[in-house]
Amino acid sequence: MDKKFKRTLVTTALPYANGPVHIGHLAGVYVPADIYTRYLRLKGEDVIMIGGSDEHGVPITIKAKNEGVTPQDIVDRYHKIIKDSMEELGISFDIYSRTTTDIHTATASEFFRHLYDKGEFVEKTSMQLYDEKANQFLADRYVIGECPHCHFDHAYGDQCEKCGTSLNATDLINPKSAITGNTPVLRETKHWYLPLDKWEPALSKWILDGHKEWKTNVYGQCKSWIDLGLQPRAVSRDLDWGVPVPVEGADGKVLYVWFDAPIGYISNTKELLPDTWEKYWKDPESRVINFIGKDNIVFHCIVFPAMLMAYGDNYQLPDNVPANEFLNLEGDKISTSRNWAVWLHEYLRDFEGKQDVLRYVLTANAPETKDNDFTWADFQQRNNSELVAILGNFVNRVLVLTHKYYGGVVPVPNAVTDTETAAYAELAEIKIRLGEYLDTFHFREALKEAMNIARLGNRYLQETEPWKLAKTDMERVATVMNTAVQLCANIAIAFEPFLPFMSDKLARILRMEPMTWDQLGSNDLVAAGTEIGAAELLFEKIEDDAIQAQLDRLARIKEENKLKQWQPAPVQEATDFDTFMKMDIRVGTVKECSRVPKADKLLQFLIDDGMGDRTIVSGIAKYYDPADLVGKQVCFIANFPSRRLKGIESQGMILSAENADGTLVVVGPTGPVTPGSQVK
Ligand code: MF3
Ligand code: ZN
Repeated sequence: MDKKFKRTLVTTALPYANGPVHIGHLAGVYVPADIYTRYLRLKGEDVIMIGGSDEHGVPITIKAKNEGVTPQDIVDRYHKIIKDSMEELGISFDIYSRTTTDIHTATASEFFRHLYDKGEFVEKTSMQLYDEKANQFLADRYVIGECPHCHFDHAYGDQCEKCGTSLNATDLINPKSAITGNTPVLRETKHWYLPLDKWEPALSKWILDGHKEWKTNVYGQCKSWIDLGLQPRAVSRDLDWGVPVPVEGADGKVLYVWFDAPIGYISNTKELLPDTWEKYWKDPESRVINFIGKDNIVFHCIVFPAMLMAYGDNYQLPDNVPANEFLNLEGDKISTSRNWAVWLHEYLRDFEGKQDVLRYVLTANAPETKDNDFTWADFQQRNNSELVAILGNFVNRVLVLTHKYYGGVVPVPNAVTDTETAAYAELAEIKIRLGEYLDTFHFREALKEAMNIARLGNRYLQETEPWKLAKTDMERVATVMNTAVQLCANIAIAFEPFLPFMSDKLARILRMEPMTWDQLGSNDLVAAGTEIGAAELLFEKIEDDAIQAQLDRLARIKEENKLKQWQPAPVQEATDFDTFMKMDIRVGTVKECSRVPKADKLLQFLIDDGMGDRTIVSGIAKYYDPADLVGKQVCFIANFPSRRLKGIESQGMILSAENADGTLVVVGPTGPVTPGSQVK
């Protein structure tokens, strides 16, 4: 970093309070922000980290409607879950607030009014779809109709998911309201637009010329937005949930959620520091850093900065926006609506006391430069062969040996050898790289460096073999064990930003004073003569059954989603009577039925077809006990060409229907029918 700042405001994207937080949120935003903030605190810097729930927006109102409760009920429910679970994970917010507070409403309202009074908005009327049954204008997402491009009949008003074209709701053919199913009508409405085009030169200069050091994914997205040319953006909506537009004649209009939410960063700072908040926003010696996911880049790098420039009054633009890409789960995109996620509050319940394991895995596998995949197999593997086998193992050996040889009292070291000198030299290098990676938001690499201290420790013990020396040279053992204890203490410091629970525990065992970054690298963190605490395991193995339980849960959700998404197959092209009559469908009675050996799908039938016996083989063995079918009447195609299946001549085809879950049910008449009768 070239410039030196006096203080840092770390902001974290405000999660929508329409669901709990999941591992995608954590890996993308909260864990990296927390690592960074803890690191600055360890360095003794003036830093605050703020967060809060984003409690406005259309999806919250729809969810409320579906559940028959108020939007406030919805956000109260999820705000609490989110706040409590993040706290339990050790995300160390200085404040975690919400956007339904009075202070936020007042701040957002004043912000709008100030821009309005300065003439920063453009007013425009336009025609929008209105649902007369629900008495409301419809957000694009809540209109469904036929895509004008590919004619898919279930396109959303903002995008056709079949051909991918982005749409306006008014483009749809035969639009329907997703709320009532009603056909909406066009109505005129007035909105306020922020003319981003006006700010384009300033934005371009600030980002494209001034912030070439930003992550390439962030810089690249900004560049392509700016290159495309910026358009005015509406900052109000016709909705009854949100911050009311503070202007005469704006009844029924609220601030667009993406207008009020980033102002939440300001109102949260005010709530935390009523007297000094401005220092963090308006002093050029302060810097703001926005931790976000990639879908938020345009709002944080273009829209909100334009709002701040329009406001004036020395508001600082963010110094960096280290946005992450997405984390997938077992190969599929995480989705709140499809319940395809590992929810933090459920993780904390299922893996009690294992906060650091999740923090570790999400950091080691963070989607810093590209989308990444979370798998439970990787989670288990990283716990068992990294946290337990490398980190936990080193610390445990040191604690146990210190108790064994010295009754837990850290020995006074004797003369050091090249081995110790080399170890401390390596530690010093690790510290430099660790700091550089943290300063530049490369948390995965930073974590690897921290782990290298444990690797160094294991190597040191392997080389010095104090358990062998103990038989011959206790003088040397004292030096080795003192050094090993100091390495453990360095681990407590280096891991504090990443694994704060482990670090705390270790610091307590080693009776360390409050830790600082400066001390990292020292060979004198735990004074000789200190009586350390009993050896405790820092991590424990995660067994297969715990992992299997999670995989089973995901498999169940996949099944449920399949059922939810099932739709009848589209009706086929028109046929005619003659074609139909060519199919000789008949009723027959099952005389015998048995499984076909060595074919787990097949059943062999003997059917009375009115003319004699007919053998048919059918692939429904998974769904029936053969005995249950004997005596039943079934429909079959009598003129289907014979074919050999597993050496059996099958003379026809038995008809069955396929359920949404893929199971098959044999089709037959509803009353007794003379065998051999035709179905017409
Ligand atoms: N709620 C938004 C999301 O989850 C993020 C809002 S960030 C803020 O995508 F800047 F607007 F607060
Ligand atoms: Zn389409």
